[in-house]
Amino acid sequence: MTILAIETSCDETAVAIVKFGRKGKIKKIYANLVASQIKIHAPYGGVVPNLASREHERNLPLLLRQAQINKLIKKINFIAVTNGPGLSPCLWRGTNTARALARYYDKKLIAVNHLAGHIYSNWPFKFPALALIVSGGHTELVLMPEHLKYHLLGETRDDAAGEAFDKVARLLELGYPGGPLIEKLAREGNPKKYDLPRPMKYEANYDFSFSGLKTAVRYLMEKEKINKADLAASFQEAVIDVLRYKLNRAQEEFEIRNVVMGGGVTANQALRQALPQVKSPEPKLSLDNAQMIALAAYWKAKKGKFIKPENLEAVPNLMLN
Ligand code: KG4
Ligand code: ZN
Repeated sequence: MTILAIETSCDETAVAIVKFGRKGKIKKIYANLVASQIKIHAPYGGVVPNLASREHERNLPLLLRQAQINKLIKKINFIAVTNGPGLSPCLWRGTNTARALARYYDKKLIAVNHLAGHIYSNWPFKFPALALIVSGGHTELVLMPEHLKYHLLGETRDDAAGEAFDKVARLLELGYPGGPLIEKLAREGNPKKYDLPRPMKYEANYDFSFSGLKTAVRYLMEKEKINKADLAASFQEAVIDVLRYKLNRAQEEFEIRNVVMGGGVTANQALRQALPQVKSPEPKLSLDNAQMIALAAYWKAKKGKFIKPENLEAVPNLMLN
């Protein structure tokens, strides 16, 4: 089975063409392309939806051509696209393009949840599985009894983990996106120097909260002259501490052996080291990409979960289910 996948939910335009063997085993990656917009959004300190959408419009045809869609179209069985969650104008670019291609080339369409893509970026893994999603827009703990079945155990009540990294990086005047910059600086710092809060750590649920952490960093900076590396390290440690604690507790309570994590924050080496039992995607599949969308789409195709072109729409707040 060969799948063309398109991902435009946020600020990366991504196209992949992947051939699968049995059980979702990747046989050949014809293309796995990502056009990053980091430089465009950096001056604003965050993603500007309309600028991102314009870039997707510009990049999509270029990536499709670079992926040699013309040459490969006969081999392609299905067209997959992220239909949510994400930024509305961005999601519409991808879904409209996928719909047009499906109609023109007469291929079946598969709508993929972006978060399912982040989970499946770890494929192969076993069920039942516990999945931690930590990205710029989401922090969720999900129980998966089998393929494509998702039970949300908990999620962030305010900022996502990646968002907290980005906001604290802005406070420290490091630049955008903040995650990799904080991680780099933290390597030179002392994580025990500043006693930052561990929001919701001991509450009897699997929800998270990271906005208070950002506020604590701001208060500290107003109060005293801080050492940036020590503060970056202490902040990173606080985020990791809460994630680790709640993930371990969920693993114990539900007696799950197979744990995976996905999303941009999994690029963080300190987080990976803090969770040695957890499978994380290879670095190339940590950040937004279309190969992970193809992986999730493979299992939807196997279960006959296609969508009619006229029913495909962008759903900015799409839930995992
Ligand atoms: O999954 P992703 O590419 O996009 C979303 O779906 O949101 O995640 C992007 C997020 C950003 O907030 C970025 O700061 C964070 O992932 N990130 C990191 C690292 N690399 C990226 N956070 C911590 N450490 C990193 N090394
Ligand atoms: Zn993502």
